Amino acid sequence: MRLVLAAALTLATALPAAAADGQALFNARCKRCHTITGANTPGAPSLKGVAGRKIAGAPGFAYSAGLKGKGGTWTDASLDAYLANPSEFAAGTRMFARVAQPAARAAIIDYLKTLNQERPCAACP
Ligand code: HEC
Repeated sequence: MRLVLAAALTLATALPAAAADGQALFNARCKRCHTITGANTPGAPSLKGVAGRKIAGAPGFAYSAGLKGKGGTWTDASLDAYLANPSEFAAGTRMFARVAQPAARAAIIDYLKTLNQERPCAACP
């Protein structure tokens, strides 16, 4: 595991340290459902540009009533609360993935924020 993480981090050297950790965590724990390309999958909304975006705001994704009813935009604080315990943040949400460790949540959120910038596609995981 340590070796796999080290390899993932080496590939991510273009990003600041915390965001690079976040990218490795994202690839391990989020990528099987979410893309970062702007295209939703049948199972989950795209997370490209999610930081600062309207909650339940990816065009074309059929969100749960629970998340849709939340209102507001994604901030560091609301992303942290959602990732810590999705159904406590939005009762009835269809996302169940939780990130228990605060440092891991912070790294993932740092990484999500880098997805707001246009990057050359060679840098896309
Ligand atoms: C098993 C599939 C799955 C996994 C794994 C998963 N998610 Fe999700 N995620 C979803 C679904 C489904 C939704 C939409 C929930 C709803 O409509 O209530 C969602 C919604 C979200 C949203 C809100 C997006 C928006 O447009 O408002 C964020 C942020 C998010 N996920 C982050 C993550 C992160 C970060 C991880 C990894 C730690 C992760 N998700 C792992 C399925 C998943």
